[in-house]
Amino acid sequence: MSGDRVWYHTLDLPDGTTTPGWFDTRGAPAEAGLPLSLAGKRCLDVGTFDGFWAFEMERRGAREVVALDVDDPTSLDWPYDERHRGPELVAEWGTGRGPGFAAAAEVIGSTVRRVSCSVYDLGEAVAGRFDLVLCGALLLHLRDPIAALERMREVCDGELLLVEHLDPTLELFARRVPSARFAPDWDQWWRANSAGLTAMVDRAGFDVVWSSRRFLVPFGPGAPAHQRAGGLHGLAARRRGDGLLFRAFRAKPRDPRPDPSRT
Ligand SMILES: C[S@@+](CC[C@H](N)C(=O)[O-])C[C@H]1O[C@@H](n2cnc3c(N)ncnc32)[C@H](O)[C@@H]1O
Repeated sequence: MSGDRVWYHTLDLPDGTTTPGWFDTRGAPAEAGLPLSLAGKRCLDVGTFDGFWAFEMERRGAREVVALDVDDPTSLDWPYDERHRGPELVAEWGTGRGPGFAAAAEVIGSTVRRVSCSVYDLGEAVAGRFDLVLCGALLLHLRDPIAALERMREVCDGELLLVEHLDPTLELFARRVPSARFAPDWDQWWRANSAGLTAMVDRAGFDVVWSSRRFLVPFGPGAPAHQRAGGLHGLAARRRGDGLLFRAFRAKPRDPRPDPSRT
């Protein structure tokens, strides 16, 4: 079923095939503490791509899952120099965001509702409110990750589960300093350490209540042969193997804190 398109996600499908994803996130739900049962929950997957997390939440019994991504590649946060050729590259590489999701959803028989909308435009009017808002590997691709988190805060009644890529250098050498590295790669804006992500989530109006251990997301069978993460990722995760460094954070929306000078 893989066809000639490029797959971002490695999806095990009910027809016995597995999509040759660029990344293999199949071990990530366990690492990220995704609850085994989501029975009764209304869940949102922000930046769904081929739908791995959305389908997984559906499989775990969610009452309803909405998957958000942008169909129009010009709506992605391109840096100035990439603004004109970036969208063309998406077409040339076969990495359009809708077709993989649609093809997989059909084989799975999924009822996940996919909505084309930028996270910056997310609000109650788009698809209502959610018990669980899941956001994976998106913040690093956004010019304004805190504005995006604020939009998620607007629709989150229960919990945010952020599963985000970490900068291994900052994680290893500036662990206690809340920090993010600017423009570490062509389509990335910010790559943070754990303390930096915690501060971003906090600034957007959430209390971080749990974080996972650091883990690696390995490259999938569809990754280019030359793709290598480098040893720092494994060192920071204390794991063998090649993959990108990740950590998950659970956070609850909170009310504004009182002004300490007035108490
Ligand atoms: C690196 S992929 C991560 C896919 C998936 N969430 C995961 O964790 O495996 C980032 C996804 O976020 C989407 N994205 C980028 N900018 C977005 C925006 N402004 N609003 C919504 N989705 C966006 C991209 O189209 C892409 O599907």
